[in-house]
Order: sequence, then structure tokens, then C-alpha cells
Amino acid sequence: MFGGRTSSVPHLALFLLLKAATSLAQAIPDFPVILNTTFPLTLAVQPSCGPLTSQRFTEINTGIISLDKIRTIVAFGDSWTDNGSNGTVPIPPMMWPPVPEAGSAKNPAQTRASNGFVWVEIFANTLSAKLLDYAIGGAVIDNFAYTSTNPNNILGHPQASFVDQASLFFLQGKFLDALVPSQTLYTVAFGINDHNQAAIAGGNWDRAFSSYVAKLGELQAAGARNILIHGMFQSFPDTDRLQDRVFGYLRDSKAQNGTNFAFVNLEKRNSSRPLSKIRQFLDIEGTQRVSEVR
Ligand SMILES: *[C@@H]1O[C@H](CO)[C@@H](O)[C@H](O)[C@H]1NC(C)=O
Ligand SMILES: *[C@@H]1O[C@H](CO)[C@@H](O)[C@H](O)[C@H]1NC(C)=O
Ligand SMILES: *[C@@H]1O[C@H](CO)[C@@H](O)[C@H](O)[C@H]1NC(C)=O
Ligand SMILES: *[C@@H]1O[C@H](CO)[C@@H](O)[C@H](O)[C@H]1NC(C)=O
Ligand SMILES: *[C@@H]1O[C@H](CO)[C@@H](O)[C@H](O)[C@H]1NC(C)=O
Repeated sequence: MFGGRTSSVPHLALFLLLKAATSLAQAIPDFPVILNTTFPLTLAVQPSCGPLTSQRFTEINTGIISLDKIRTIVAFGDSWTDNGSNGTVPIPPMMWPPVPEAGSAKNPAQTRASNGFVWVEIFANTLSAKLLDYAIGGAVIDNFAYTSTNPNNILGHPQASFVDQASLFFLQGKFLDALVPSQTLYTVAFGINDHNQAAIAGGNWDRAFSSYVAKLGELQAAGARNILIHGMFQSFPDTDRLQDRVFGYLRDSKAQNGTNFAFVNLEKRNSSRPLSKIRQFLDIEGTQRVSEVR
């Protein structure tokens, strides 16, 4: 099993690096999206992985299917992952070269918080995989976990959550793609807005955790066998504790269901890095959004 030999388990990060260097990056996408395929996904950092037995969350890859087998990526998350598509609701593809808030002008809430493709689009493109992106900027895990009387989220948009995104996926996902378990990767990234939302008037982290793992359980019941969790870019006691608990749940998912998972932290921008290397990932305030920069 992977848990006992973690030091020999190649990290997802390494896979990405290797894959990006291969001809995969030149492959023709299966789906009609305008993407600049000369931008393969590579890494800014070389993380070190911890053991599956760790009581604290740690970067790890417990054996996600080899990336060249992935045909579909189903993404849940917040603005770091949101490309404005909200599932595959057809809206105009982004413009190239990247412009601030690249994306659809149809709905101001459906723009990217970056001046180019978000990480998961580049990831999908690098793998030549189809992307079903359900992420929404400002999303939390569960709207009912936080004490707030404001009907809008921290970005001023209608509240959105992992619970909502999963509902939409369960409604439409099976009609959109065959979703072969051995060829599908699920990516999940929450916590930033949970931390912010809880800071307003408090919240119930037990409820946030229960909802988080309930959705991970439903995804597994629906066939998810490969799950990538994007951890926080910053350390806070509340979200660190949440991530420890989610990590523990995923360890059980591996043991009980044979579910493969990877846990990868987001990274803050290193301001010494030349701007040209990170421009795709800058948000409109100039903050870096993801760890995978070329
Ligand atoms: C794609 O990106 C590369 C690298 O920045 C650039 O040289 C090229 O012109 C871009 N291609 C298109 C079609 O914009
Ligand atoms: C996403 O789509 C669902 C279903 O059509 C809709 O209820 C929801 O408001 C949409 N969210 C955004 C931010 O557009
Ligand atoms: C977001 O990605 C999906 C899947 O690749 C694509 O269909 C959609 O056009 C993209 N959205 C925008 C605004 O480019
Ligand atoms: C195992 O999978 C079932 C669905 O098949 C799910 O309900 C349960 O939560 C999963 N257990 C863990 C620990 O992931
Ligand atoms: C930031 O990048 C510079 C240049 O690549 C490097 O020398 C430095 O060690 C990096 N700092 C951190 C904290 O990673």
C-alpha cells in the first residue's frame, strides 16, 4: 500500500513537471476551447511530501492515476479555480491574449479573477483533458456554516458553496460526460472564503467539515476514485484544523474505498519572480493565485 512507502511515491508535482516536459503539452485538446497550448503547466516550487499517517495535512500523492489517462477534470472551488463557466453553461471562450477579468462579459459574476487562464484550465489543457468547471468566486464550503446576515458572499456576489456546486454537478454532470472513474480527476479547493466569512460573525467549523466530507462521500458514491485537494495558500488555525480533518477523512477514503488522493498546497507569490513568468496567474490586484507557474 502507498501509506507505508510514502518516500517512494512520486509526488503529483513531479508528475506535472515530467508531463509538462513531454509531448502531452502539444496534444490536440478534445474540446473546442481556445487555449494557447504553448503554455504547459510546470511548477514554481518542489514540495516535499509527508506520510499518509500524518495527523497534520501534508502534501502527498497516494497514487492518483497516471495523468496521461485523465480524460476529464471536474473542478470545484472558489475564484482561484473559477473560469466563469459554472459547469459547462455555454458562454463565449476567453480572449487571447489575456485581458483583465478574461472571460464572459455576459454576467459580471462570471469572469476570471485572473488576467488569463486559471490553473485548472492550464492543467486540463496540459493533459488534453475535458474540463467541467463548477468553481465560483467567493465560494465557501457550506453557506449555512457561517453566521452572516448578508445574502451575498465576500465578493458581493450571491452566495455560492461546495454544497451548491456539487448539487449542480449531480444534476447535470452525468449528462455532460461519460465520467469513466478511471479517467476522471476531481479537484476541490475551499477554505479562503470560509476563513473570511467566519471572521465576520463566527461560524460552525464542525458543520463546514461535515458538509465538506459529505460531498466528498457523495462524489465517491458517484464514482470518484481520484481526488486532488488544493490546500490553502496561507496558514490560519481554523483552516489548518479543517485541513487536518479533511486529510484524516481522505486517509480513511483510501483505506476503506481505495480512493486515490493528492493534497497540494497553494503557494503565495514570490515577488522576486519575474513578472513575465507569472502573468497568467495574477488576479486583478496583482496577487498570485496558484503555485503552478511556469
Ligand atoms: C502563446 O504563448 C506564447 C508564449 O507566450 C506566445 O509566444 C504565442 O504568441 C502565443 N500564441 C498565441 C496564438 O497567442
Ligand atoms: C450556476 O448555475 C446554476 C444553475 O443554473 C445557477 O442556479 C447559479 O445561480 C449559477 N451561479 C452563478 C454564479 O452564475
Ligand atoms: C471555462 O472552461 C470550460 C471548459 O474548458 C469552457 O467550456 C469555457 O468556455 C471556459 N469559460 C470561459 C469563459 O472561457
Ligand atoms: C466511502 O464511499 C462511500 C460511498 O461509496 C461514502 O459514502 C463514504 O463516505 C466513503 N468513505 C470515506 C471514508 O471516504
Ligand atoms: C524567490 O525567488 C528568488 C529568485 O528565484 C529566490 O532566490 C528566492 O529564494 C525565492 N524566495 C522564496 C521565499 O522562495
